[in-house]
Amino acid sequence: MGLVNTKEAIDLLKNGTPVALPTETVYGLACPIASESGLKKIFSIKNRPFNDPLIVHVSGLEMALNLIEDLESDFETLAMNFWPGPLTLVHKKNKEKVSDLITSNHNTVAIRCPQSELFREIIKQTGPLAAPSANLFKKISPTKAEDVLKGLPSVAVLDGGACGVGIESTIYDVHNKAILRPGVITDLAIKNLTNKNVSYVEAINAPGFEKDHYQPQSELWVVSDKIILQSFSDKEFNLVILESDAKEAAKNLYSNIRDQDAKGKTIAVIVDVENLKKPEWYGIKNRLLKASSRWIEND
Ligand code: TXA
Ligand code: MG
Repeated sequence: MGLVNTKEAIDLLKNGTPVALPTETVYGLACPIASESGLKKIFSIKNRPFNDPLIVHVSGLEMALNLIEDLESDFETLAMNFWPGPLTLVHKKNKEKVSDLITSNHNTVAIRCPQSELFREIIKQTGPLAAPSANLFKKISPTKAEDVLKGLPSVAVLDGGACGVGIESTIYDVHNKAILRPGVITDLAIKNLTNKNVSYVEAINAPGFEKDHYQPQSELWVVSDKIILQSFSDKEFNLVILESDAKEAAKNLYSNIRDQDAKGKTIAVIVDVENLKKPEWYGIKNRLLKASSRWIEND
């Protein structure tokens, strides 16, 4: 369908047609949680299996509280501190308000309040929006409107420029005190507010947590040192060299990979292994582990 303006986006959403909207992390393919037919379209457009639950996006804490039950106080504490922002909170859901289609029959719901003011203004008019990343299942997420259209040419997209965070939100399960997907908000930041130990688990048995995710078209290798590549003399590589600052590296990660992918040879992402050991790099490391077919470190 191509680019649409804000009014067209709202009209489409109200009619149950999914629209790709910008968030601070990646573009999301959104639809009101009340539209069962629209939600089904999200799964079919993305070719996403029904057992991979969707994140619900809200305009603020009050809207979120309406979607959950038996409030765990950490939910409120974390939302008040990090929202709007790239933190998704998993909490026991209100079954009347959140369908099993959204949560893939789990009794919890994943909720976040995006930083993008435009997105939140739209939610105020449409109600809560379910929105997975606006890419084909298992493929690399879009951080620009044009990226969305390359992967999903038939969808309507609201162009909000390039995403500032660049990788998907941190997902934190408040009941199990566990990070299910690392992002730019770290375990330490969560621990400081909740005074509880935070673990990292990919607990949910959902396809979104499988190894082969975030994939470009070409093969992707992760290499700790450019010199190593010379020992694979029969191969040609397009290099992605990460910035030394974690925020900058995350912001540009997917667009840098996409730029090299367009050239059609194996992509080699050159990483600093010492950096990847730091919590602010866990999100980047997690995406690279899933996207790569080889991981080569010299020691
Ligand atoms: O930054 C983001 O979170 C982006 C933007 C668009 O908001 N969204 C995003 O959605 O990354 P998606 O669908 O690509 O990834 C959501 C992940 C899935 O892997 C899913 O399994 C997990 O969230 N998830 C959803 N509901 C859950 C639940 N109730 N419990 C545990 N994990 C859940
Ligand atoms: Mg995704």
